[in-house]
Amino acid sequence: IPAELKPDLSIRLCGPRGFCAGVDRAIQIVVLALKAYGAPVYVRHEIVHNRYVVEGLEAKGAVFVEELNEIPAEHQKQPVVFSAHGVPKSVPEDAQSRNLFYLDATCPLVSKVHKQAMRHQRLGRHVVLIGHAGHPEVIGTMGQLPEGTVSLIETIEDADVYVPADPDNLGFVTQTTLSVDDTAGVIARLTERFPNLTAPAADSICYATTNRQEAVKQAAPGCDLFIVVGAPNSSNSKRLVEVALRAGAKKSLLVQRAAELDWAEIGDIRTLGLSAGASAPEVIVDEIIAAFKARFNATIDLAITTEETENFLVNRELREVPLTHE
Ligand code: F3S
Repeated sequence: IPAELKPDLSIRLCGPRGFCAGVDRAIQIVVLALKAYGAPVYVRHEIVHNRYVVEGLEAKGAVFVEELNEIPAEHQKQPVVFSAHGVPKSVPEDAQSRNLFYLDATCPLVSKVHKQAMRHQRLGRHVVLIGHAGHPEVIGTMGQLPEGTVSLIETIEDADVYVPADPDNLGFVTQTTLSVDDTAGVIARLTERFPNLTAPAADSICYATTNRQEAVKQAAPGCDLFIVVGAPNSSNSKRLVEVALRAGAKKSLLVQRAAELDWAEIGDIRTLGLSAGASAPEVIVDEIIAAFKARFNATIDLAITTEETENFLVNRELREVPLTHE
């Protein structure tokens, strides 16, 4: 399209967006394991919820499995990496009993939630976990404690009907990637019903989730369309879509790649909001911007709410091992 015929478009590009320190660390762990031990490196579950990242690592020699029994006996000496979402205690135990060499890429902020849940239990409290059923992080957090000792609450409605055995001895933790506002509502309702409910010593929702939601909230009002780059199984990305709509974007879409954009559906827009979930690489944000620039006379307005400096070190064994397969 000739430049003079392109309609004007203002792109509000949110910051912080995209990779968080936990995702960055998890990917580094797989890359370093490949360099240190050579292919194949097994990874239990998608290392982070993003196809582009997973396919990029597969091309380097990573092999993704859902369970440890899928690792062939002849590759037992190759490392297996546990994903950033965390795993139930039974998984490292199972790895040990199979004599597997494992590297745990659980985000340190997820491990912190695990510790808080264990602390509640040590102090005699029944643990209430606020989160989404079936998400690997929730499975991992529940799996830190014996079966039946954690109650999962997903919504305010769940909070309304929850009947604990001992209402005066409850402690809660949450999934790290929830909606900040929804979670505050669930906690308020639980506290109304159970005034002695104990909060964890530190917030469970992580800095990356909080910051990405805040930036979307600031940028979304008045947007004709808000695009969140992310995968349909990425909890934090889905929350950003909801936050954008609630904050006043007319429409919001979760998009994995620019090729998915349906231009007829997008139609005639003047203001586009753009962010990316914590597991979405920046190259896809660039790809989306390029696709809009091909059709619109686009200008970029940065909508930055804070700077992030978090950086998590990889596992000690990977910091010390020679990278002989580079
Ligand atoms: Fe960790 Fe939060 Fe990222 S828990 S993996 S820093 S989204």
